[in-house]
Amino acid sequence: MSVNKEVKKVTTNTLLKMKVAGEKISMLTAYDFSFAKIIDGAGIDVILVGDSASNVMAGHETTLPITLDQMIYHASSVIRGIDRCLVVVDLPFGSYQSNSDIALASAIRIMKETGGHSIKLEGGEEVLDSIKKIVSAGIPVMGHLGLTPQSIYKFGTYTVRAKEEAEANKLKRDAKLLEEAGCFAIVLEKIPANLAKEVSESLSIPTIGIGAGGNCDGQVLVMHDMLGIITEFKPRFLRQYLNIHEQATKAVQQYISDVKSKDFPNDSEQY
Ligand code: KIV
Repeated sequence: MSVNKEVKKVTTNTLLKMKVAGEKISMLTAYDFSFAKIIDGAGIDVILVGDSASNVMAGHETTLPITLDQMIYHASSVIRGIDRCLVVVDLPFGSYQSNSDIALASAIRIMKETGGHSIKLEGGEEVLDSIKKIVSAGIPVMGHLGLTPQSIYKFGTYTVRAKEEAEANKLKRDAKLLEEAGCFAIVLEKIPANLAKEVSESLSIPTIGIGAGGNCDGQVLVMHDMLGIITEFKPRFLRQYLNIHEQATKAVQQYISDVKSKDFPNDSEQY
């Protein structure tokens, strides 16, 4: 496995250098102390405290219900579990769309109350003023284009975005604007691989893809999907590395059976 052990702490600058060197960036979501410790210890470059916590931690259908306070709880738990990786925290729906002052206030709360290293927000031209304001306050910003789940009710479905020329052209324009506004990286979610390649090659900042093909500068997956904690969600872009759901179910069934049969606890498991 190729973890660059010379990098003691991953920073936004490290990611830029990785793009220049052609070294792919690895990113996974995490929402709590214990998994953050495992993922950071394994050598991940970036942990995203995603607003997907709304789905995989709280069981909501969309990312819309999660609040800024809840994101702060998740992010501060993650921060206590990490040592090396860069931590990016999602600004949740409703915490930045109204105006750039509110966006900055939300970003400042994330930085002050969690110890996170940067924030991510969704959208292009529409959120440019907010990005500029947050960046000028010294807070690193990751952009997010393509399928932006906070706008799911505008899209109507979770299908691939920017297949049509007009939407692809807007995405290319937005990516440039985000770079000019000072974003240090951009997530490209569920767009055609050729478009992601073109955008990645046109930018000097890294792109991190999810369902956007192999030519992005890095890849991100939701931890619960790739570890098989949640197994119902099976999009084509997902590679599932474990089936924790199945393994945990078997372990719990064994425990129940051991309790019922009085096998647990045995003599050596008591005082
Ligand atoms: O919230 C999240 O998990 C995300 C990733 C899908 C990129 O934004």
